[in-house]
Amino acid sequence: MSTQTEPANLMEAVVSLAKRRGFVFPSSEIYGGLNGFFDYGPLGVELKKNIRDCWWNDMVRRRDDVVGIETSIIMHPKVWEASGHVAGFSDPLVDCKVSKNRYRADQLFFAPIVIDGVTHGYVSALESEKTTEELQAAAELFKRKKAIQGTLAPVQPKDFTEAKPEEIGQIPSPATGNPDLTPPRAFNMMFQTNVGAMTDASSVAYLRPETAQGMFVDFKNVVDTGRVKLPFGIAQTGKSFRNEITPRNFIFRSREFEQMEMEFFIHEDDDWAKWHRYWINWCKDWLKSIGLPDSHLSEYDHLKEKLAFYSKGTTDIMFKFPFGVQELWGIAARGNYDLTQHANASGKPQEIFDEATKKKFVPHVIEPAVGLDRIFLAVLASGYAEEQVTDEKGNTETRTVLRLSPRIAPVKVAVLPLLKNKEQLVARAQKLYQKLKRKYPCFYDEAGAVGRRYRRQDEIGTPWCVTIDFDTIEKEGDTFTLRERDSMAQKRITEAELFALLEEQVY
Ligand code: GAP
Repeated sequence: MSTQTEPANLMEAVVSLAKRRGFVFPSSEIYGGLNGFFDYGPLGVELKKNIRDCWWNDMVRRRDDVVGIETSIIMHPKVWEASGHVAGFSDPLVDCKVSKNRYRADQLFFAPIVIDGVTHGYVSALESEKTTEELQAAAELFKRKKAIQGTLAPVQPKDFTEAKPEEIGQIPSPATGNPDLTPPRAFNMMFQTNVGAMTDASSVAYLRPETAQGMFVDFKNVVDTGRVKLPFGIAQTGKSFRNEITPRNFIFRSREFEQMEMEFFIHEDDDWAKWHRYWINWCKDWLKSIGLPDSHLSEYDHLKEKLAFYSKGTTDIMFKFPFGVQELWGIAARGNYDLTQHANASGKPQEIFDEATKKKFVPHVIEPAVGLDRIFLAVLASGYAEEQVTDEKGNTETRTVLRLSPRIAPVKVAVLPLLKNKEQLVARAQKLYQKLKRKYPCFYDEAGAVGRRYRRQDEIGTPWCVTIDFDTIEKEGDTFTLRERDSMAQKRITEAELFALLEEQVY
């Protein structure tokens, strides 16, 4: 019997499991770590690869209308001028003059303390699930401490980008509690480097902040060599770098991360809204196919008035993370802005010839762009569970289980001989293990009681364990005990049935 219990702090539990079982470590940990950078351990690198491979197979290999490429991380600096990143890829930054802490202005909230219609001061808080409650509590404390009589109005939070010049000098810094904050200023998030021996302005280059520009810059090369016809997509996966002001929430927002992006080019007269909807649905279905629960997914349409002038519409697929509902995957209809920008800046037309009208035109694009590390976190957070399990003798223990889809689980099946000192059991288990290993990532474990071995596999998300027991070697049929991770149900299965199960579930 088992009952699911909520861990007191899901995010802490996930980070701790990730460290304990070798999924994710802080980067350069022996030197104290580096904020916004992470390393993936032996299980993490497998899980990440499986997510990437599923995306690549479904997005590129199993489709006839999408091709893949891999472009360099450092590109010609003019790429980033044409794309608008040099001028505009910035976040509004606020400094605390005393603590030297830095905040993103759009993540720093404030509210006036209004008592009987009169403003007596300001309170501030960082963006979180509880921003409004925190501001309200701070306003009440202020009123109590200053012993001001009257009725406190409910706080009306605004972010710091909306602060008027006369308010900036009165809003307290979250670090000091005093009005020590600077006005917001634009902070470009691209990492700069120098190419070649000189370190002057002529050698400045950037680590790419997105993989997308590779697809635009190589558009003509793909059209000329790839035997592609509109509508078609170009996809790639790879590292991107952003000097985020406030990297946070573990691997949710980091400074080095991996993106999986696809640019889907359509005729200028094609129905962009139809394709936009098509790709939103595709992305949601794909997330579900790797095990993310439908209940955690939602959509957010960017407000028309906040879109860039060239954008026809952007919808984010949102995910219920432990720290709130946040963007997971953005699907943007970008018109023909990017190709036009590169045509103008390079002097090389980025057009396609329309056989029907005998005219050239610049294709439009729909762009589904997602962060691999963000999907990784979504998978861990929604798959993590703790259960109270009671055995036949009435003993209760806590079982930690990672409910990963077989498609992405780092280990698909664990092979366990019931006893390690029974030669026949070990020999049969080894034979099965060697055969499975050629096709599927699997794990051989003979150490400790079988129940303990099941628990170790539950914690890393292994969907199935097969135990080679006395029935295997003594009874007809060469069957094993198959134990299923989520239900803990056990049944007997032959080798052929095991391979058939894996073939069906791991794709
Ligand atoms: N080419 C469009 C583009 O890059 P974006 O919304 O800036 O759009 C796309 O990024 C996706 O990349 C996001 O939805 C998110 O999943 C991921 N992403 C962006 N910044 C990230 C960061 N600092 N850390 C981890 N993932 C990030």
